[in-house]
Amino acid sequence: MTTNTFFTSLISVVADLSMHMPPEQRYQRLLQHLRQTFPCDASALLKLEGRHLVPLAVNGLSEDTLGRRFIVAEHPRLARIVASDQAVRFAADSDLPDPYDGLIEAEDTRLLVHDCMGVTLFIDGEPWGVLTLDALSSGTFDDIDPVQFNAFISLTAASVKAARLISSLEQRVSYATRTLIKKNADHGLIGESECMRTLRNEISIVAPSELAVLILGETGVGKELVAQRIHLESNRADQVMVYVNCAALPESIAESELFGHSKGAFSGAISERAGKFELADGGTIFLDEIGELPLSIQAKLLRTLQNGDIQRVGSDRQIKVNVRVIAATNRNLQREVANGLFRSDLYHRLAVYPMHVPPLRCREKDVLLLAGAFLEKNQQHLGLKKLRLDTGAKKALLDYHWPGNVRELEHLLSRAALKASTQANRQSGIITISPAYLDITPASQDGTSDTVTDVSTIPSIPMDFKDAVDEFQRQLVQQQIALHQGNRAAAARALGLDRGNFHRLLKRLDI
Ligand SMILES: Nc1ncnc2c1ncn2[C@@H]1O[C@H](COP(=O)(O)OP(=O)(O)OP(=O)(O)O)[C@@H](O)[C@H]1O
Ligand SMILES: [Mg+2]
Repeated sequence: MTTNTFFTSLISVVADLSMHMPPEQRYQRLLQHLRQTFPCDASALLKLEGRHLVPLAVNGLSEDTLGRRFIVAEHPRLARIVASDQAVRFAADSDLPDPYDGLIEAEDTRLLVHDCMGVTLFIDGEPWGVLTLDALSSGTFDDIDPVQFNAFISLTAASVKAARLISSLEQRVSYATRTLIKKNADHGLIGESECMRTLRNEISIVAPSELAVLILGETGVGKELVAQRIHLESNRADQVMVYVNCAALPESIAESELFGHSKGAFSGAISERAGKFELADGGTIFLDEIGELPLSIQAKLLRTLQNGDIQRVGSDRQIKVNVRVIAATNRNLQREVANGLFRSDLYHRLAVYPMHVPPLRCREKDVLLLAGAFLEKNQQHLGLKKLRLDTGAKKALLDYHWPGNVRELEHLLSRAALKASTQANRQSGIITISPAYLDITPASQDGTSDTVTDVSTIPSIPMDFKDAVDEFQRQLVQQQIALHQGNRAAAARALGLDRGNFHRLLKRLDI
């Protein structure tokens, strides 16, 4: 491109990027312009967050790339780019693995990147992120004019700075929170679907308030992650968040766990002990699976929420605590209240701000973003060069109804990664996951397998009616426990049984 044509086109790029638009769209447009100016098969803009490079926009790369978090130290090419203040170009025969091998969406079947360059973007003198360009044919970048390339990089830095200024004005998040969020990039809520954007927006509204929050949603949707986000974006972010799993608290010790006990309060209380509420003083307490809390303890919790004080078991002294409460459950608490299993006054105290985490099947293409993040993690754990999904696998993931939500996706991909990483596949470097490696069976895809009786579970040998019914119940219960990854409370709910009955059933069936 002649210098004149280049600068004329640059002016129209500047004009386009100066329009008002959300940051993600600005980054996306920038990459489109980059690809038109410097022909390549893929480009990406990544932001440096602690030790990770987080993709903000990609062009020509598989959609799941946006969900991946690249640990700089584990990607030698990215590490070289980050360490340099100049554009870095890698030789076509460089044996350093490319972070995008297998992720370029080209018409042909080549999976390896053959020409690759990248540059660190500096904003206000600080490294902010990285811009990368990749091509499947070697020599693609031979003709790039360094002056034109540098001009484009300056423009990129300027657009990023503008987008950053606008969003920091729009989001007035406190400094303390922002630094903490940076440190906890691993805890990010992945998802760009409309419902996830709404959820993130709700989090940013409710987090800085002192209101109690009740997080509702099916099993595995990410309620715990939402609770962490609320704490991290609250004014208590630099204080503790104490986690309590109410489902794991037998009634006999629940009170002492939550409120502490004095010495000699009961046999075994050999010394004074502070409870979770005292430990959380100044911070947040997260009462997970609140629907499982025994009724007697619910009354005591209500008193604490009303008066802000606690009493250790065996002591008369009132102790003032300043604790923000976040609770979560996958039960329908309103129905529990109607059935007399949950106190209505406690429900109303907790549900000041109810927040619904949407099921995965309603989150459109977020499935692929999440898949990208989980594959990247598995890749590191298994020491693989690249784990990717083929088109059929992506379609299968998008079509499935995910009764176990994000947790099910995470587990399914871990299994698929393990199965696909056979010795023979490992040698090829890039491991492609096809539908055959995913445990998504047509039967489970139509959403009926959990509920419809499989005739093969009915014993064919004649046996006593009661024994046959017991055997059937045993299989059904075991199937539900397995489906909920060993979470008995969730299995009980799926079968519509309350906790007490379910435990009795397990005992009777000897499970
Ligand atoms: N949006 C998300 N982005 C990234 N990871 C997620 C997201 N949502 C959930 N996860 C991951 O999925 C798994 C399940 O999430 P989590 O434990 O928060 O679910 P839950 O709603 O509390 O489930 P349960 O009701 O069974 O306790 C976790 O490993 C979590 O990190
Ligand atoms: Mg949970």
